[in-house]
Amino acid sequence: MDKKIIEFKENNTPYSTEFGDIYFSVDDGMAETEHVFLKGNRLPESWNDHKHIRICETGFGTGLNFFMAASLFEKTKKKGQKLFYTAIEKNPLKQEDILKSLEKWRDNFGDVFDIFLSKYPIRISGFHPIIIKPDIILVLIFDDIKDALLEVNDKQDFWFLDGFAPAQNPDMWQDDLYENMARLSHNQTRFATFTAAGMVKRGLENAGFEIEKIKGFGRKRDMLVGQFQSDQKRPQERETCKEYRIAGAGLAGLATGYLFAQLEQKVEIFEKHKDAQHNASSNKIGLISPRIGAERIPAYEYYNAAFALFNRENKEHLNQIGTLFEPDNETKSLRFEKFKNNMSWPSEAIEYKDKKILFKDAGTASPAALCAHYAQNLNVQFGQKIKGADIWATSYHQNFDSFDTQKVRGQVSYAIAENHNLEHVHSYGAYVAPINKDRISFGATFTHWDDSEGVTEKDHAYNLEKLKLAHDDIKIEDGWAGFRCASKDRLPIIGPHEDGYINIAHGSHGMISSLAAAFILAYYEGLLPQPFSKTVLEAVSPQRYTKDK
Ligand SMILES: Cc1cc2nc3c(=O)[nH]c(=O)nc-3n(C[C@H](O)[C@H](O)[C@H](O)COP(=O)(O)OP(=O)(O)OC[C@H]3O[C@@H](n4cnc5c(N)ncnc54)[C@H](O)[C@@H]3O)c2cc1C
Ligand SMILES: C[S@@+](CC[C@H](N)C(=O)[O-])C[C@H]1O[C@@H](n2cnc3c(N)ncnc32)[C@H](O)[C@@H]1O
Repeated sequence: MDKKIIEFKENNTPYSTEFGDIYFSVDDGMAETEHVFLKGNRLPESWNDHKHIRICETGFGTGLNFFMAASLFEKTKKKGQKLFYTAIEKNPLKQEDILKSLEKWRDNFGDVFDIFLSKYPIRISGFHPIIIKPDIILVLIFDDIKDALLEVNDKQDFWFLDGFAPAQNPDMWQDDLYENMARLSHNQTRFATFTAAGMVKRGLENAGFEIEKIKGFGRKRDMLVGQFQSDQKRPQERETCKEYRIAGAGLAGLATGYLFAQLEQKVEIFEKHKDAQHNASSNKIGLISPRIGAERIPAYEYYNAAFALFNRENKEHLNQIGTLFEPDNETKSLRFEKFKNNMSWPSEAIEYKDKKILFKDAGTASPAALCAHYAQNLNVQFGQKIKGADIWATSYHQNFDSFDTQKVRGQVSYAIAENHNLEHVHSYGAYVAPINKDRISFGATFTHWDDSEGVTEKDHAYNLEKLKLAHDDIKIEDGWAGFRCASKDRLPIIGPHEDGYINIAHGSHGMISSLAAAFILAYYEGLLPQPFSKTVLEAVSPQRYTKDK
């Protein structure tokens, strides 16, 4: 992610040093986008009747095409219409380079540009859903098009084909691109591309697109536009506003309610306890951190996408002091080493310090404060144990044994530690996190099938023993204990099940995972474009337990 991939030409037009091509016309990038991608796709006329307009772009670059499409959408949208824009990019630009490239046009893009910059994802591979506005949702997929398209499920209405010129970037313009476009198209799907290269024309034709050659932009003689030929009808959209009954007012239920309400749905939340003090989400302070993986397994993809999502959507609730991970055994050392070699995290988000890894965007947040924030404008009814719900956010399903889940007791200790000098959260198997300049939180215990409630001295003693900090001036003041619900594969369980959606087993990562879960359920309800890869959706689905039975 850190290699230098661009230079700036006249008018701050970005130029790719890797492909030897410009990102957009030096003369007038906006006019080019309008001609090639908007008019080429007959927009806005062609999207007039679509409630949810689905555009997929190959090669997001600076986002110029997205900003132009979003501006057109804002000018022409009808009541209830939404723009679902998915864009793939294998070399995401730094935020400052996007700003430099597009600053001159900023006023044309309204607040979409500023919102986008404020929510620009950490540049790590994978899916990054971004709510620009309730009716403009962008999903950035940072990956090579070859891998990314295989992970997309939803049929698209429009394709913006904007990789560099086929002569400079032949790897992108291959049959697998056209075949996947065909898989993801219906009989009204249109495409437009700046190129008129014979290999692109043939590829698209062979995949089932009817092609038209029209006048290209500026000095370019021709370009291609067309429509997919098929008897596959455009999928029907869901009802716009529904009422959802959610069981459980912990992080999972509240994050889902909060997102659904943001997406203009009605929600009612039912909580069996009389207040919010009795669940796993009532802790004062917890950690927000990514997961260190040796390879891109689904758990790595899920938790890191969820971490990046939390960083964007809940920035104001995140005390971003950084988390320093230190391996506490040989297996972890090896994993950290592989992570360093295999996963290219950008230097603005990570620092390698000998064998340790500092995640600069990680830190702490308060589960209890988050719950209060989510609940602010929601109708939460306490003291109501319900038997029927649309969404079960009840930590576990029916009992801890169902879906192979486990009950894991945990206790954190809060202490006075004057002059603790902790700059970051320190995670080394156990962890210690600064609460403020003279207080710390540390722990946590992890005890399977221990039902005892409340804080115990035994667990404080255990936490103290594990604490990596000079002990002399530490005075334990208090603590907090709760029960995690963890699945055997350490992934949450999110998706449709026989008695409604379930949203459970968020284990030790409830704060980031509950927000990701909310996005997944909103997607299943047709309120968002696909927020995570097909692999991740399958990996967290309840169907993983029933598939082979
Ligand atoms: C010691 C400890 C430390 C942790 N540290 C961290 C951390 O650092 N970072 C992090 O992200 N996560 C951490 N976690 C995990 C996190 O707290 C959980 O993953 C999260 O709180 C789970 O939220 P939930 O909404 O799924 O469950 P809960 O918060 O338990 O909420 C479920 C709710 O459903 C209600 N309910 C159940 N059945 C019904 C019904 N039939 N009708 C109505 N209501 C019902 C319950 O009463 C409960 O309030 C920690 C957990 C523990 C125990
Ligand atoms: C011409 S530029 C895109 C211009 C862009 N629409 C803009 O407004 O800035 C092409 C983009 O495609 C990306 N790209 C090239 N090959 C790719 C591939 N195989 N997979 C994903 N992205 C690719 C490049 O990194 C570059 O950002």
